[in-house]
Amino acid sequence: MATNRTFTMIKPEAVEKGFSGKILDMITEAGFKIVALKKTQLSKAEAGTFYEVHSERPFYGELVDYMSAGPIMAAVLEKDNAVADFRTLIGATDPSEAAEGTIRKAYAESKGKNAAHGSDSDENASIEANFFFTGRELI
Ligand code: CMP
Repeated sequence: MATNRTFTMIKPEAVEKGFSGKILDMITEAGFKIVALKKTQLSKAEAGTFYEVHSERPFYGELVDYMSAGPIMAAVLEKDNAVADFRTLIGATDPSEAAEGTIRKAYAESKGKNAAHGSDSDENASIEANFFFTGRELI
């Protein structure tokens, strides 16, 4: 995948509350093109694999339970400097520390239920996009 792409998930709480459209609006308003998009639900095993990098963290079990508890929206986004610019747009993990104008400031409830995920590197963006989408869906 080109380095101008990143991966995001709108998390179960935000999807359940009907915020998907508003969050996608914020994303496109910020200049990202939506390359691929789907609504799906992770099994517990899939959520465990997706977040394996956090498996030693105390919140891992809670994170896996939460992320598999309901439907999510998975998307691949394109823009120059996509990974870093999208991390700026989602804001800090803890919504109480998220800047005004960020997705988490507007829609996150807590560090766990924090509305949206954003890849933290080009390498992980590619791994995460391929976790959800086939090559044919990433054109
Ligand atoms: P995300 O960007 O999806 O990547 C890792 C996730 O772990 C992060 O968002 C948070 O939802 C979650 N997380 C990080 N720190 C905590 C924490 N202290 N308690 C619960 N969940 C956390």
